Amino acid sequence: MIKATIAELPKYVDKEVKVGAWIANKRSSGKIAFLQLRDGSGFVQGVIVKSDVAEEVFQTAKSITQESSVYVTGTVQKDERSPFGYELLVTNVELIHTSTDYPITPKEHGTEFLMDNRHLWLRSKRQHAVMKVRNELIRATYEFFNENGFVKVDPPILTGSAPEGTTELFATKYFEEDAYLSQSGQLYMEAAAMALGKVFSFGPTFRAEKSKTRRHLIEFWMIEPEMAFVEFEENLEVQEQYVSYVVQSVLKNCQLELKTLGRDISKLENITAPFPRISYDDAITFLHEKGFDDIEWGDDFGSPHETAIAESFDKPVFITHYPTKIKPFYMQPHPEREDVVLCADLIAPEGYGEIIGGSERIHDMDLLSKRVEEHQLDPETYKWYLELRQYGSVPHSGFGLGLERTVAWISGVEHVRETIPFPRLLNRLYP
Ligand code: 4AD
Ligand code: MG
Repeated sequence: MIKATIAELPKYVDKEVKVGAWIANKRSSGKIAFLQLRDGSGFVQGVIVKSDVAEEVFQTAKSITQESSVYVTGTVQKDERSPFGYELLVTNVELIHTSTDYPITPKEHGTEFLMDNRHLWLRSKRQHAVMKVRNELIRATYEFFNENGFVKVDPPILTGSAPEGTTELFATKYFEEDAYLSQSGQLYMEAAAMALGKVFSFGPTFRAEKSKTRRHLIEFWMIEPEMAFVEFEENLEVQEQYVSYVVQSVLKNCQLELKTLGRDISKLENITAPFPRISYDDAITFLHEKGFDDIEWGDDFGSPHETAIAESFDKPVFITHYPTKIKPFYMQPHPEREDVVLCADLIAPEGYGEIIGGSERIHDMDLLSKRVEEHQLDPETYKWYLELRQYGSVPHSGFGLGLERTVAWISGVEHVRETIPFPRLLNRLYP
Protein backbone atom coordinates (compact mmCIF):
# COMPACT_ATOMS: atom_id res chain seq x y z
CA MET A 1 0.00 0.00 0.00
CA ILE A 2 1.26 3.48 -0.93
CA LYS A 3 1.35 5.93 1.97
CA ALA A 4 0.83 9.47 0.68
CA THR A 5 0.17 13.00 1.87
CA ILE A 6 -2.77 14.94 0.44
CA ALA A 7 -0.39 17.20 -1.50
CA GLU A 8 1.06 14.10 -3.19
CA LEU A 9 -2.30 12.71 -4.32
CA PRO A 10 -2.09 14.13 -7.89
CA LYS A 11 0.79 11.67 -8.48
CA TYR A 12 -1.45 8.67 -7.72
CA VAL A 13 -4.56 9.08 -9.88
CA ASP A 14 -6.54 5.79 -10.02
CA LYS A 15 -4.21 4.24 -7.42
CA GLU A 16 -5.13 3.18 -3.92
CA VAL A 17 -3.33 5.10 -1.17
CA LYS A 18 -3.35 5.43 2.61
CA VAL A 19 -3.46 8.93 4.15
CA GLY A 20 -3.17 9.99 7.79
CA ALA A 21 -5.62 12.86 8.30
CA TRP A 22 -7.97 14.82 10.55
CA ILE A 23 -11.67 15.34 9.90
CA ALA A 24 -12.07 19.04 9.20
CA ASN A 25 -15.77 18.68 8.50
CA LYS A 26 -18.34 16.05 7.53
CA ARG A 27 -21.66 15.67 5.74
CA SER A 28 -23.62 12.50 5.34
CA SER A 29 -26.91 11.07 4.21
CA GLY A 30 -28.24 7.53 4.38
CA LYS A 31 -26.27 6.39 1.35
CA ILE A 32 -23.19 8.59 1.12
CA ALA A 33 -20.76 10.41 3.43
CA PHE A 34 -18.40 13.27 2.57
CA LEU A 35 -15.37 13.72 4.79
CA GLN A 36 -13.37 16.94 4.50
CA LEU A 37 -9.89 15.64 5.22
CA ARG A 38 -6.82 17.67 6.13
CA ASP A 39 -3.30 16.48 6.87
CA GLY A 40 -1.29 19.71 7.01
CA SER A 41 -0.09 19.30 3.43
CA GLY A 42 -3.56 20.10 2.08
CA PHE A 43 -7.30 19.53 2.09
CA VAL A 44 -9.22 16.88 0.13
CA GLN A 45 -12.73 15.50 0.10
CA GLY A 46 -13.17 11.81 0.88
CA VAL A 47 -16.31 10.21 -0.53
CA ILE A 48 -17.75 7.06 1.04
CA VAL A 49 -20.55 5.26 -0.74
CA LYS A 50 -22.46 2.98 1.64
CA SER A 51 -23.03 0.24 -0.93
CA ASP A 52 -19.30 0.07 -1.80
CA VAL A 53 -17.80 -0.44 1.68
CA ALA A 54 -18.21 -2.72 4.68
CA GLU A 55 -21.11 -1.71 6.94
CA GLU A 56 -18.86 -0.82 9.92
CA VAL A 57 -16.68 1.44 7.75
CA PHE A 58 -19.74 3.45 6.69
CA GLN A 59 -20.92 3.64 10.32
CA THR A 60 -17.49 4.90 11.45
CA ALA A 61 -17.56 7.58 8.76
CA LYS A 62 -21.12 8.60 9.65
CA SER A 63 -20.48 8.95 13.37
CA ILE A 64 -17.00 10.46 13.21
CA THR A 65 -16.52 13.82 14.97
CA GLN A 66 -14.79 17.00 13.86
CA GLU A 67 -10.98 16.88 14.32
CA SER A 68 -10.85 13.15 15.02
CA SER A 69 -7.71 11.59 13.56
CA VAL A 70 -7.84 8.71 11.09
CA TYR A 71 -6.02 6.63 8.57
CA VAL A 72 -8.06 6.70 5.38
CA THR A 73 -7.59 4.32 2.49
CA GLY A 74 -9.01 5.16 -0.91
CA THR A 75 -8.57 5.58 -4.64
CA VAL A 76 -7.44 8.95 -5.97
CA GLN A 77 -9.79 10.45 -8.55
CA LYS A 78 -9.72 13.59 -10.63
CA ASP A 79 -12.49 15.97 -9.60
CA GLU A 80 -12.89 19.09 -11.71
CA ARG A 81 -15.39 20.68 -9.28
CA SER A 82 -13.03 21.00 -6.32
CA PRO A 83 -10.37 23.77 -6.22
CA PHE A 84 -7.76 21.08 -5.45
CA GLY A 85 -8.84 19.06 -8.52
CA TYR A 86 -8.84 15.63 -6.84
CA GLU A 87 -10.87 13.58 -4.40
CA LEU A 88 -10.51 10.30 -2.60
CA LEU A 89 -13.00 7.48 -3.14
CA VAL A 90 -12.70 5.98 0.33
CA THR A 91 -12.59 2.22 0.91
CA ASN A 92 -11.59 2.15 4.58
CA VAL A 93 -11.47 4.45 7.62
CA GLU A 94 -9.41 3.50 10.69
CA LEU A 95 -10.10 5.70 13.68
CA ILE A 96 -6.91 6.73 15.53
CA HIS A 97 -8.34 9.12 18.11
CA THR A 98 -11.80 10.54 18.72
CA SER A 99 -12.02 14.28 19.28
CA THR A 100 -14.88 15.49 21.46
CA ASP A 101 -16.43 18.96 21.59
CA TYR A 102 -13.92 20.68 19.33
CA PRO A 103 -14.46 24.35 20.18
CA ILE A 104 -14.11 25.84 16.69
CA THR A 105 -17.21 24.71 14.86
CA PRO A 106 -18.09 25.61 11.26
CA LYS A 107 -20.25 28.52 12.51
CA GLU A 108 -18.90 32.10 12.88
CA HIS A 109 -16.78 32.90 15.95
CA GLY A 110 -15.54 36.21 17.35
CA THR A 111 -11.90 37.17 16.93
CA GLU A 112 -11.06 37.14 20.66
CA PHE A 113 -12.46 33.62 20.95
CA LEU A 114 -10.43 32.51 17.95
CA MET A 115 -7.31 34.19 19.35
CA ASP A 116 -7.80 32.40 22.69
CA ASN A 117 -7.91 29.20 20.64
CA ARG A 118 -5.04 30.14 18.34
CA HIS A 119 -3.37 26.74 18.96
CA LEU A 120 -6.44 25.14 17.31
CA TRP A 121 -7.46 27.96 14.97
CA LEU A 122 -4.21 27.36 13.04
CA ARG A 123 -5.83 24.18 11.70
CA SER A 124 -8.52 26.04 9.78
CA LYS A 125 -8.32 26.29 6.01
CA ARG A 126 -7.84 30.05 5.94
CA GLN A 127 -5.13 30.11 8.63
CA HIS A 128 -3.42 27.19 6.91
CA ALA A 129 -3.38 29.21 3.68
CA VAL A 130 -1.86 32.27 5.38
CA MET A 131 0.89 30.14 6.95
CA LYS A 132 1.68 28.64 3.55
CA VAL A 133 1.97 32.12 2.02
CA ARG A 134 4.25 33.13 4.91
CA ASN A 135 6.40 30.07 4.27
CA GLU A 136 6.64 30.84 0.57
CA LEU A 137 7.73 34.38 1.35
CA ILE A 138 10.49 33.05 3.60
CA ARG A 139 11.56 30.46 1.02
CA ALA A 140 11.65 33.04 -1.79
CA THR A 141 13.57 35.45 0.46
CA TYR A 142 16.39 32.94 0.99
CA GLU A 143 16.34 32.10 -2.71
CA PHE A 144 16.51 35.75 -3.79
CA PHE A 145 19.37 36.72 -1.49
CA ASN A 146 21.34 33.53 -2.06
CA GLU A 147 21.06 33.96 -5.83
CA ASN A 148 22.24 37.55 -5.56
CA GLY A 149 25.44 36.94 -3.61
CA PHE A 150 24.24 37.72 -0.08
CA VAL A 151 25.43 35.80 2.98
CA LYS A 152 22.95 35.04 5.79
CA VAL A 153 24.21 36.41 9.12
CA ASP A 154 22.45 36.07 12.46
CA PRO A 155 22.67 39.13 14.72
CA PRO A 156 22.20 38.67 18.48
CA ILE A 157 18.79 38.97 20.13
CA LEU A 158 20.07 40.07 23.52
CA THR A 159 21.78 43.43 23.03
CA GLY A 160 22.93 46.58 24.75
CA SER A 161 22.08 48.95 21.90
CA ALA A 162 18.89 50.56 20.58
CA PRO A 163 19.09 51.34 16.85
CA GLU A 164 15.53 52.63 16.48
CA GLY A 165 15.33 54.82 19.58
CA THR A 166 15.05 54.07 23.25
CA THR A 167 11.31 54.40 23.82
CA GLU A 168 10.15 50.98 22.61
CA LEU A 169 12.64 48.65 24.24
CA PHE A 170 11.97 45.44 26.12
CA ALA A 171 14.38 45.64 29.00
CA THR A 172 15.72 42.55 30.70
CA LYS A 173 18.58 41.65 33.00
CA TYR A 174 21.74 40.13 31.54
CA PHE A 175 23.03 38.81 34.83
CA GLU A 176 24.13 42.07 36.51
CA GLU A 177 23.92 44.21 33.35
CA ASP A 178 20.93 45.87 31.71
CA ALA A 179 20.04 44.39 28.34
CA TYR A 180 17.30 44.67 25.72
CA LEU A 181 15.59 42.35 23.30
CA SER A 182 16.70 43.34 19.80
CA GLN A 183 14.46 45.86 18.01
CA SER A 184 16.59 45.54 14.84
CA GLY A 185 19.75 43.67 13.93
CA GLN A 186 20.92 46.51 11.71
CA LEU A 187 23.95 47.76 13.63
CA TYR A 188 25.39 44.25 13.76
CA MET A 189 24.54 43.73 10.10
CA GLU A 190 26.62 46.79 9.28
CA ALA A 191 29.60 45.14 10.97
CA ALA A 192 28.84 41.94 9.04
CA ALA A 193 28.67 43.85 5.73
CA MET A 194 32.20 45.15 6.34
CA ALA A 195 33.31 41.52 6.69
CA LEU A 196 31.16 39.78 4.05
CA GLY A 197 30.06 42.52 1.63
CA LYS A 198 26.38 41.74 1.08
CA VAL A 199 24.55 40.17 4.01
CA PHE A 200 21.01 39.57 5.18
CA SER A 201 19.41 38.53 8.43
CA PHE A 202 16.05 37.00 9.20
CA GLY A 203 14.96 36.89 12.78
CA PRO A 204 12.58 37.97 15.51
CA THR A 205 12.56 41.59 16.68
CA PHE A 206 10.74 43.18 19.60
CA ARG A 207 9.02 46.52 20.05
CA ALA A 208 7.40 47.41 23.35
CA GLU A 209 4.97 49.69 21.52
CA LYS A 210 1.65 50.32 23.16
CA SER A 211 0.03 50.37 19.70
CA LYS A 212 -3.14 48.43 19.08
CA THR A 213 -3.50 48.66 15.32
CA ARG A 214 -3.87 46.14 12.53
CA ARG A 215 -0.22 46.77 11.59
CA HIS A 216 1.50 46.36 14.96
CA LEU A 217 2.90 43.32 16.68
CA ILE A 218 5.05 43.32 19.81
CA GLU A 219 7.18 40.51 18.40
CA PHE A 220 7.65 40.39 14.64
CA TRP A 221 10.10 38.95 12.13
CA MET A 222 12.32 41.14 10.03
CA ILE A 223 14.51 40.57 6.98
CA GLU A 224 17.46 42.98 7.12
CA PRO A 225 19.87 43.16 4.19
CA GLU A 226 22.98 45.35 4.44
CA MET A 227 25.38 46.13 1.58
CA ALA A 228 28.87 47.62 1.51
CA PHE A 229 29.65 50.06 -1.35
CA VAL A 230 25.93 50.49 -2.03
CA GLU A 231 24.45 53.98 -1.99
CA PHE A 232 20.93 55.33 -1.66
CA GLU A 233 19.51 54.73 -5.17
CA GLU A 234 21.01 51.26 -5.57
CA ASN A 235 19.49 50.29 -2.21
CA LEU A 236 16.00 51.14 -3.58
CA GLU A 237 16.65 49.03 -6.66
CA VAL A 238 17.47 45.98 -4.52
CA GLN A 239 14.27 46.55 -2.54
CA GLU A 240 11.98 46.77 -5.55
CA GLN A 241 13.58 43.69 -7.11
CA TYR A 242 13.30 41.72 -3.88
CA VAL A 243 9.66 42.66 -3.23
CA SER A 244 8.68 41.89 -6.84
CA TYR A 245 10.46 38.56 -6.59
CA VAL A 246 8.61 37.40 -3.50
CA VAL A 247 5.23 38.55 -4.82
CA GLN A 248 5.75 36.71 -8.11
CA SER A 249 6.93 33.60 -6.20
CA VAL A 250 3.76 33.57 -4.10
CA LEU A 251 1.64 34.00 -7.25
CA LYS A 252 3.39 31.05 -8.85
CA ASN A 253 3.59 28.68 -5.89
CA CYS A 254 0.52 29.50 -3.76
CA GLN A 255 -2.30 29.54 -6.31
CA LEU A 256 -4.56 27.33 -4.22
CA GLU A 257 -3.90 29.32 -1.03
CA LEU A 258 -4.61 32.66 -2.72
CA LYS A 259 -7.87 31.18 -4.03
CA THR A 260 -8.79 29.98 -0.52
CA LEU A 261 -8.10 33.50 0.77
CA GLY A 262 -10.20 35.07 -1.99
CA ARG A 263 -7.26 37.29 -2.96
CA ASP A 264 -7.70 39.51 -6.03
CA ILE A 265 -4.57 38.34 -7.82
CA SER A 266 -4.83 40.91 -10.60
CA LYS A 267 -3.58 43.41 -7.99
CA LEU A 268 -0.50 41.24 -7.35
CA GLU A 269 0.31 40.39 -10.97
CA ASN A 270 1.08 44.05 -11.49
CA ILE A 271 3.77 44.13 -8.79
CA THR A 272 6.97 44.31 -10.82
CA ALA A 273 10.02 46.59 -10.54
CA PRO A 274 10.47 49.54 -10.83
CA PHE A 275 8.28 51.09 -8.14
CA PRO A 276 7.30 54.76 -8.08
CA ARG A 277 9.14 57.20 -5.80
CA ILE A 278 7.81 60.36 -4.18
CA SER A 279 9.83 62.69 -1.94
CA TYR A 280 8.65 63.54 1.55
CA ASP A 281 8.36 67.20 0.44
CA ASP A 282 6.09 66.26 -2.47
CA ALA A 283 4.11 63.90 -0.27
CA ILE A 284 3.36 66.78 2.11
CA THR A 285 2.21 68.95 -0.82
CA PHE A 286 0.10 66.09 -2.14
CA LEU A 287 -1.56 65.59 1.27
CA HIS A 288 -2.35 69.29 1.55
CA GLU A 289 -3.95 69.16 -1.90
CA LYS A 290 -6.02 66.19 -0.72
CA GLY A 291 -7.30 68.24 2.21
CA PHE A 292 -5.15 66.85 5.03
CA ASP A 293 -4.74 70.01 7.07
CA ASP A 294 -3.54 68.11 10.12
CA ILE A 295 -0.01 67.53 8.82
CA GLU A 296 2.94 69.91 8.51
CA TRP A 297 6.45 69.59 7.14
CA GLY A 298 8.44 67.80 9.85
CA ASP A 299 5.62 65.55 11.09
CA ASP A 300 5.73 61.80 10.69
CA PHE A 301 2.97 60.22 8.61
CA GLY A 302 0.13 58.38 10.26
CA SER A 303 -1.61 55.48 8.57
CA PRO A 304 -4.37 57.66 6.97
CA HIS A 305 -1.60 59.71 5.31
CA GLU A 306 0.25 56.63 4.10
CA THR A 307 -2.95 55.14 2.77
CA ALA A 308 -3.87 58.33 0.90
CA ILE A 309 -0.43 58.42 -0.77
CA ALA A 310 -0.47 54.69 -1.58
CA GLU A 311 -3.94 54.96 -3.13
CA SER A 312 -2.67 57.06 -6.00
CA PHE A 313 -0.37 54.23 -7.13
CA ASP A 314 -1.10 50.62 -8.08
CA LYS A 315 2.34 49.45 -6.94
CA PRO A 316 4.22 49.90 -3.68
CA VAL A 317 5.60 53.44 -3.47
CA PHE A 318 8.87 54.72 -1.96
CA ILE A 319 8.55 57.86 0.13
CA THR A 320 12.08 59.27 0.15
CA HIS A 321 14.13 61.92 1.99
CA TYR A 322 12.33 62.29 5.32
CA PRO A 323 13.26 65.08 7.74
CA THR A 324 16.42 64.29 9.69
CA LYS A 325 14.74 65.04 13.02
CA ILE A 326 12.12 62.27 12.76
CA LYS A 327 14.53 59.51 11.69
CA PRO A 328 17.12 57.45 13.62
CA PHE A 329 20.66 58.70 14.35
CA TYR A 330 22.50 56.58 11.78
CA MET A 331 21.00 57.93 8.52
CA GLN A 332 23.22 59.68 5.96
CA PRO A 333 22.22 63.31 5.33
CA HIS A 334 21.29 64.53 1.88
CA PRO A 335 24.49 65.90 0.24
CA GLU A 336 22.87 69.29 -0.45
CA ARG A 337 20.44 69.51 2.45
CA GLU A 338 21.02 69.21 6.18
CA ASP A 339 17.32 68.86 6.95
CA VAL A 340 16.57 65.58 5.14
CA VAL A 341 18.24 62.16 5.06
CA LEU A 342 18.92 59.54 2.36
CA CYS A 343 16.20 57.19 3.46
CA ALA A 344 13.02 55.68 2.09
CA ASP A 345 10.00 53.88 3.45
CA LEU A 346 8.22 51.51 1.09
CA ILE A 347 4.44 51.79 1.41
CA ALA A 348 2.37 48.81 0.26
CA PRO A 349 -0.80 49.31 -1.80
CA GLU A 350 -4.36 48.77 -0.55
CA GLY A 351 -3.83 50.40 2.84
CA TYR A 352 -1.28 47.92 4.24
CA GLY A 353 1.14 50.69 5.17
CA GLU A 354 4.90 50.70 5.54
CA ILE A 355 6.51 47.35 4.79
CA ILE A 356 10.14 48.50 4.49
CA GLY A 357 12.26 51.10 6.25
CA GLY A 358 15.74 51.65 4.87
CA SER A 359 18.53 54.16 4.28
CA GLU A 360 22.11 54.89 3.44
CA ARG A 361 24.14 54.88 6.67
CA ILE A 362 26.50 57.59 7.88
CA HIS A 363 30.06 56.49 7.11
CA ASP A 364 31.88 59.56 8.38
CA MET A 365 33.25 59.03 11.90
CA ASP A 366 32.93 62.63 13.05
CA LEU A 367 29.37 63.05 11.88
CA LEU A 368 28.29 59.75 13.41
CA SER A 369 29.94 60.61 16.75
CA LYS A 370 28.09 63.92 16.69
CA ARG A 371 24.77 62.15 16.05
CA VAL A 372 25.37 59.65 18.87
CA GLU A 373 25.88 62.64 21.15
CA GLU A 374 22.83 64.54 19.84
CA HIS A 375 20.63 61.50 20.39
CA GLN A 376 22.02 61.14 23.91
CA LEU A 377 23.26 57.62 23.30
CA ASP A 378 26.03 56.17 25.44
CA PRO A 379 29.28 56.40 23.39
CA GLU A 380 30.70 53.38 25.26
CA THR A 381 27.79 51.17 24.10
CA TYR A 382 28.27 52.32 20.49
CA LYS A 383 32.09 52.22 20.54
CA TRP A 384 32.25 49.12 18.37
CA TYR A 385 29.71 50.58 15.93
CA LEU A 386 31.71 53.82 15.61
CA GLU A 387 34.90 51.80 15.04
CA LEU A 388 33.39 50.48 11.79
CA ARG A 389 34.03 54.06 10.54
CA GLN A 390 37.63 54.01 11.72
CA TYR A 391 39.02 51.14 9.64
CA GLY A 392 38.32 51.56 5.93
CA SER A 393 34.90 53.16 6.19
CA VAL A 394 32.76 52.85 3.03
CA PRO A 395 29.35 54.07 1.88
CA HIS A 396 26.80 51.40 2.74
CA SER A 397 23.07 50.96 2.83
CA GLY A 398 20.43 48.54 3.96
CA PHE A 399 16.81 48.06 4.86
CA GLY A 400 14.39 46.07 6.97
CA LEU A 401 11.26 44.37 5.64
CA GLY A 402 8.57 43.42 8.14
CA LEU A 403 7.51 39.88 7.33
CA GLU A 404 4.02 39.96 8.86
CA ARG A 405 2.94 43.20 7.21
CA THR A 406 4.15 41.87 3.88
CA VAL A 407 2.30 38.57 4.36
CA ALA A 408 -0.85 40.52 5.30
CA TRP A 409 -0.65 42.56 2.13
CA ILE A 410 0.09 39.64 -0.21
CA SER A 411 -2.57 37.43 1.41
CA GLY A 412 -5.13 40.23 1.55
CA VAL A 413 -5.58 39.58 5.30
CA GLU A 414 -6.84 42.58 7.22
CA HIS A 415 -4.79 42.27 10.44
CA VAL A 416 -1.18 41.19 11.08
CA ARG A 417 -2.32 38.99 13.98
CA GLU A 418 -3.33 36.30 11.47
CA THR A 419 0.04 36.32 9.70
CA ILE A 420 2.22 34.94 12.53
CA PRO A 421 1.52 31.57 14.18
CA PHE A 422 1.33 32.89 17.75
CA PRO A 423 0.95 36.67 17.75
CA ARG A 424 2.30 38.73 20.65
CA LEU A 425 -0.08 41.67 20.96
CA LEU A 426 -0.83 44.30 23.54
CA ASN A 427 -2.61 42.24 26.26
CA ARG A 428 -1.93 38.90 24.61
CA LEU A 429 0.75 36.45 25.66
CA TYR A 430 -1.60 33.43 25.52
CA PRO A 431 -1.45 30.90 23.96
O1 4AD B 1 11.17 51.00 9.99
P1 4AD B 1 11.80 50.07 10.99
O2 4AD B 1 11.68 50.42 12.41
O3 4AD B 1 13.34 49.99 10.55
C1 4AD B 1 14.34 49.37 11.21
O4 4AD B 1 14.24 48.71 12.21
C2 4AD B 1 15.66 49.49 10.49
N1 4AD B 1 16.75 49.32 11.47
C3 4AD B 1 15.72 48.42 9.42
C4 4AD B 1 17.02 48.44 8.64
O5 4AD B 1 17.28 49.41 7.96
N2 4AD B 1 17.81 47.39 8.75
O6 4AD B 1 11.23 48.61 10.78
C5 4AD B 1 11.33 47.99 9.53
C6 4AD B 1 10.03 47.31 9.17
C7 4AD B 1 8.84 48.25 8.99
O7 4AD B 1 8.83 48.83 7.72
C8 4AD B 1 7.67 47.31 9.21
O8 4AD B 1 7.42 46.54 8.03
C9 4AD B 1 8.20 46.37 10.25
O9 4AD B 1 9.61 46.42 10.20
N3 4AD B 1 7.73 46.74 11.59
C10 4AD B 1 6.73 46.13 12.24
N4 4AD B 1 5.93 45.08 11.90
C11 4AD B 1 5.01 44.68 12.79
N5 4AD B 1 4.83 45.23 13.99
C12 4AD B 1 5.60 46.28 14.39
N6 4AD B 1 5.43 46.81 15.61
C13 4AD B 1 6.60 46.77 13.49
N7 4AD B 1 7.53 47.75 13.55
C14 4AD B 1 8.20 47.72 12.39
MG1 MG C 1 9.91 52.62 9.85
